[in-house]
Amino acid sequence: KSSLRKIETIRNTFEDYQQQSFLKLPVSANYYTTFLLITLLIMFSAIWLGFYMARGITVPIQQLAEGVRRITEGDLDFKIGAKATDEIAILVDSFNTMTRELNESRLNIQHAHEDLKRTNIELDRRRNYIETILDNIGAGVVSVDKRGTITTFNKAAEKILNLKSENIFGSSYHDAFDFSSYQIIRKLSKRMNAQDRESIEEQIDLRVGENNLTLLVNVQVLRGATGKYRGLVIVFEDLTHLIKTQKIAAWKEVAQGIAHEIKNPLTPIQLNTQRLKKKYYENREDFDRVFDESIHIITQEVEGMKELLNEFLRFSRMPAPNPRPTSLHKIIDDILISYSEHDKKLKIKKSFDPNLGAVPIDPEQIRRVFINLFENATDAIDEGGAIQISTRILQKEKLVRIEFADDGAGICTADRDKLFLPHFTTKKRGTGLGLAIVNRIIIDHNGSIQVKDNYPKGTVFVIDLPYSPLVLQTGNSSARKLHQITSSQS
Ligand SMILES: Nc1ncnc2c1ncn2[C@@H]1O[C@H](COP(=O)(O)OP(=O)(O)OP(=O)(O)O)[C@@H](O)[C@H]1O
Ligand SMILES: [Mg+2]
Repeated sequence: KSSLRKIETIRNTFEDYQQQSFLKLPVSANYYTTFLLITLLIMFSAIWLGFYMARGITVPIQQLAEGVRRITEGDLDFKIGAKATDEIAILVDSFNTMTRELNESRLNIQHAHEDLKRTNIELDRRRNYIETILDNIGAGVVSVDKRGTITTFNKAAEKILNLKSENIFGSSYHDAFDFSSYQIIRKLSKRMNAQDRESIEEQIDLRVGENNLTLLVNVQVLRGATGKYRGLVIVFEDLTHLIKTQKIAAWKEVAQGIAHEIKNPLTPIQLNTQRLKKKYYENREDFDRVFDESIHIITQEVEGMKELLNEFLRFSRMPAPNPRPTSLHKIIDDILISYSEHDKKLKIKKSFDPNLGAVPIDPEQIRRVFINLFENATDAIDEGGAIQISTRILQKEKLVRIEFADDGAGICTADRDKLFLPHFTTKKRGTGLGLAIVNRIIIDHNGSIQVKDNYPKGTVFVIDLPYSPLVLQTGNSSARKLHQITSSQS
């Protein structure tokens, strides 16, 4: 029974098994499917993860590659926008920082470049401007650097020295200039060094080709900001023409001066010869005295003229005064005699200071002063007009004042300032040198001359001359003391 049960159990179990083994395929298939599904899921997840992770690296790297390409093309505004983590993030950040810094530097360089360009344009403009000025001024300008190379040579320099700047620009001044010009520069710079000066100016004569030139040369040392020697600048002006015209003008003036001063004594000579003639025919008794007087005056005037001409020839200028104690009243009296016989029948009045002694004057020159004043007065007055001469000692001022008045036409206020200027005249045949010479002589005597209106009409010339009665009246020693006075005054 037990065996039967056992067989029964076995059979049941077998049947179960058989039933179960029938289910075996679907169950295992079920398992396989689940497993496959899980495997596939894992694989897909892994692939997705792989792709996901790869995207995080490749996109930034692609953008990096694109960035590098753009940078090489010069586009520095490129910025990597891709999000990244870890080292790639650091790389992206570094790349972005690098491009930003590159961009900033490029902008800075661009600004600097623009500034430089502007500065260059400005410098160019200034250089052009300076060159235009240099080329348009009349003075020659040459600059030499510390090695002696010519760095500037303007148009005027070309013209004056008859050289072409392209031939000498950049060459040494030894070779560029001929021997004489070179020697002049050497001489001037040597003198400048010897005198420890930074500049020197001198008038020099230079032969250029066929012409002799007179140049005013100025040599100036050029120094840099630190005071270091940088060369020389030489400026020269051609004075040849100017000096020639000045010489002509000066000679003209001298000639006019001589003519004027010769013309003035001619009047007293003429008046005295007329007087002699008249006296000779009219009154024979008086004749001897008049003869002596007139001959004396004529001789004196001729002597004066001779002396003047000699002085002019010697110095070609107005002679300097030679003051010596002289009777001023005698000089005036001598001239008065001549004019007392004038055609215009002048009324001449004099009021002399009886205390006036010898005055330190050059008699010839003071005579010329009065002759000029008489000439002007006789020109200004009508027939029968009056001339009044007075002298007065101004004790305190140590002066003698001479007033020379006429009742002639007078001088209008506008002309008064110009009166003593050379060549100012209102007369048809006047030279206008008379009062200029008078003024010169008075000034040379340390005196002064002024003009004012006479009352009721006419003109008064007021002349002050230095006069010190005490010294002049002390007998024998007067001449020596006078010399002291005049030499201390001059
Ligand atoms: N006493 C005077 N009365 C009026 N005008 C005068 C008198 N003295 C000079 N003048 C004026 O001053 C001017 C200048 O005098 P100045 O003696 O220098 O030259 P000038 O007399 O004209 O020429 P020159 O002396 O060569 O004959 C005269 O032309 C005249 O107009
Ligand atoms: Mg005159």
